[in-house]
Amino acid sequence: VRTAATELLGVDFPLVAFSHCRDVVAAVTNAGGFGVLGAAAMSAEQLEVELAWIDRHVGGRPYGVDLLVPERVADASGTTSASALAATIPAAHRRFAAELLAAHGVSTEGELIHLGGARMGSAANNADLLDVAFDHPIRLIANALGPPPEPLLRRARASGVAVGALVGTRRHAERQLAAGVDLIVAQGGEAGGHTGEVATMVLVPEVVAAVGGAVPVLAAGGIVTGRQMAAAMALGADGVWTGSVWLLTEEAETAPATKAKFVAAGSSDTVRSRSRTGKPARQLRSAWTDAWDAETSPGPLPMPLQSMLAEPALRRVDQAAAASTGRAGELATYFVGQGVGLLGAVRPARRVVSEIMEDFADALARLAALGEDRPAP
Ligand SMILES: Cc1cc2nc3c(=O)[nH]c(=O)nc-3n(C[C@H](O)[C@H](O)[C@H](O)COP(=O)(O)O)c2cc1C
Repeated sequence: VRTAATELLGVDFPLVAFSHCRDVVAAVTNAGGFGVLGAAAMSAEQLEVELAWIDRHVGGRPYGVDLLVPERVADASGTTSASALAATIPAAHRRFAAELLAAHGVSTEGELIHLGGARMGSAANNADLLDVAFDHPIRLIANALGPPPEPLLRRARASGVAVGALVGTRRHAERQLAAGVDLIVAQGGEAGGHTGEVATMVLVPEVVAAVGGAVPVLAAGGIVTGRQMAAAMALGADGVWTGSVWLLTEEAETAPATKAKFVAAGSSDTVRSRSRTGKPARQLRSAWTDAWDAETSPGPLPMPLQSMLAEPALRRVDQAAAASTGRAGELATYFVGQGVGLLGAVRPARRVVSEIMEDFADALARLAALGEDRPAP
């Protein structure tokens, strides 16, 4: 398959996999797609370890890194210390989280705030992450939640690295284009993680028209099969950007109890909620999201404070759910899109790539047969 995206990314097949798991990134890159490592919550030291590992496993094939550079965070400068930020988390919110855990039989002993959560979206951490990323042979640096800052663009240009941006509306796409990005990911509201509300089916042709061929456009949100990839490309996309489908791979970081919940979940079982990061993010609906979204909740805090409170709590939930403690399983959740309803069993990442390739080819053949005088295969 040849498109503007395969040219830009240097791949044979325009399938991009966003994952926090280096094994998934390497598996997809090695299978002819393009892996992107989600680094937003990592420290610079962690990112160095992950990228060095990827370099050793992809034999020079192309991959990318994704950061979260939001326009608005609780500490816009990124210079406030994590403990000073933690001190601003109100007692009512800490109590609410602790009571929720206790009510489901999850331990509330010890520290309930994760200082590392302050990294999420912080300008200081992003600067450190960029230093590390540019020291590796990355082909793409992607960014969600706002236009990339000027220094990032300058540095990417100087290093020959493409800059990508995730957008959820036509207006955001126009702003990103004006900022000078090289790749736009039109991410519909079905997607896992931070999303807008416009569905992929509507957003992709809107963004493709707005971009007018100036840069490649990838479609994202709800795409977990090759036939959906073919549909996205029929809408004008140059390829697809996927996230949720990799969460049910053998390699993924998804907690075991959550994997089981994903296998059983339908497409109506996700919710766009602020309960994990403070910004609307699609995830599996659970007792955690229900409680924070209820009227009795103190309301989620702004990024990164909600992550500092939610991540350690949900990590305890994952551990307790794995040990079948109390009703921890009811709270268990993770970011995932509506496509979860199309996922079946857990598979190796490599097999997911080959099945998407085969399903894509079948879909093209089926469509081609519509215009011919013979029965569809
Ligand atoms: C677990 C998870 C975490 C995500 N975290 C980020 C992130 O840190 N940065 C980002 O740009 N996108 C993030 N996303 C969104 C993905 O990049 C991608 O756009 C989305 O998963 C596509 O929709 P899909 O989940 O339906 O495939 C995340 C998605 C998931 C499922």
